[in-house]
Amino acid sequence: MELCFLFLPTILLLSLLYSTILFFKRSAPPRATELKVLKGYPVIGNLPHFIKNGRRLLEWTTDLIARSPTGTVTVAPFVFTADPANVEHVVRTNFQNYPKGDDILSTFHDFLGRGIFNSNGEEWLLQRKTASFEFNTKSLRAFVLDKVRHEAVHRLIPLLKRAGRSGEVLDLQDVLERFAFDNICSLVFGEDPKCLSRESEEGEKFYHAFHEATELTIERAKQPFSLIWKIGRWLHLESERRLRESMETIHGLVEKYVRSRRKRSREGGRSDFLSRFMADGAHSEEFIRDILISFVLAGRDTTPTALTWFFWILSSKPEVAQKIREGIKSIRSRHGNYDSEVLTLEQLREMGYLHAAVSESLRLYPPVPLLPRESKGEDELPDGTRVGKGWTVMYSPYAMGRAEGIWGQDCGEFRPERWMEDGVFQPASPFRYTVFHAGPRMCLGKEMAYIQMKAVAASILEGFEVEVVEKRGKHHLSMTMRMEGGLPVRIKERNA
Ligand code: HEM
Repeated sequence: MELCFLFLPTILLLSLLYSTILFFKRSAPPRATELKVLKGYPVIGNLPHFIKNGRRLLEWTTDLIARSPTGTVTVAPFVFTADPANVEHVVRTNFQNYPKGDDILSTFHDFLGRGIFNSNGEEWLLQRKTASFEFNTKSLRAFVLDKVRHEAVHRLIPLLKRAGRSGEVLDLQDVLERFAFDNICSLVFGEDPKCLSRESEEGEKFYHAFHEATELTIERAKQPFSLIWKIGRWLHLESERRLRESMETIHGLVEKYVRSRRKRSREGGRSDFLSRFMADGAHSEEFIRDILISFVLAGRDTTPTALTWFFWILSSKPEVAQKIREGIKSIRSRHGNYDSEVLTLEQLREMGYLHAAVSESLRLYPPVPLLPRESKGEDELPDGTRVGKGWTVMYSPYAMGRAEGIWGQDCGEFRPERWMEDGVFQPASPFRYTVFHAGPRMCLGKEMAYIQMKAVAASILEGFEVEVVEKRGKHHLSMTMRMEGGLPVRIKERNA
């Protein structure tokens, strides 16, 4: 989840060093498959490219990859790729050689500690095993839907009805983010911060502290050298002071939840992650705190981003919205279910076309558009690209989602039908469709995310027309690829 900015702290320094070394060594000419789109400069090498494009990283890397016939570009000490074979090599075949880089880990340490997103090796494996076990239970899926249903029925739908009646313009991105925060906190801690209804002072405090910690950590990652934020922290500069305060708030609340659960542990029967992780009693308080913060981050940032783009894209595809509504109608009549505003797990599973539409929107707008890994030793990718020790290999779900070689000539079109065969959803290889990453570190929350996204999308589409008031559609890279300035919409109740 560290995203594209995380490599910025090392870019300039490494680029300068490597370019200098390469220049003086007059290294071997590139192989036929190794396209050097960019020419480095003597001594300073690729440094000017990184300075020029550091703030438009996604556009730059997408453009470079599109211009390369192999889908891979070397801008030493970086390799950018959208080649599925290279991705498979990095994230699975030679997984041990490509951990998360030390610079990334240190930038994110104050926020995520050594949680699952911010660890490697044994530390990561232990968390992965514990969490995988919990994520694969049937009871968790039911619990997830239960929490979504509660939030949708008691907060989201009433809020949309009110907006429909008053004609007020809503920022749908903000609504979805608040929804997701309530939802993930209920799942993780069994505590409801009531952010969508703004009923709890403590919940608002938690929400804002989390937002602030996320943004300030991304600001750290945007610094050209990590030394800059490290000096800032040492000098107690404003941004570092605010980050420390946000983390004190977050740690204080999480530790309070852990303590209160410990006291009530004899109650039993609870399904939230906190109870599940505490049940086996083998983990330290710090371990539990860090892994829970990582889960909140995963749930807070990804699904609302995905749904914001989904509704944005649907606003210009009324025929797709209509087809989804027809799907809901036919499922309801098949199951004789007209009472509940949220579909059941089984009904959601049957919504193949909705699944396809969400997947298609994620293909074009992946919440995590770039993913970096650091090479521990020298290596060669399947297409012949050489990777030096300590280099960063970055693959791009964003560029891959728009690659003609992977999706065909209509790769730029939003067409859910591409996922359907004889009315049944057909999944794509995770090395081609890299939205959820792939290999041993593939997203653990994928299934849970689909339950949430499909349930929310179906509830909104069934009950309301969503009119996008301003067609902005520009992205802003934060922890995920958010929509710049939000998504202003007007709501109309369909049955009203
Ligand atoms: C549309 C929604 C989502 C997308 C697109 C997504 C995408 C991703 C990606 C790209 C990664 C790899 C990150 C990295 O290695 O730096 C990841 C990892 C992960 N995701 Fe998700 N995610 C989504 C929702 C969720 C949800 C709701 C949860 C659960 C709370 C979750 C839990 C995780 C966890 C625990 C990992 C770490 C896996 C590991 O390192 O072993 N994700 N996700």
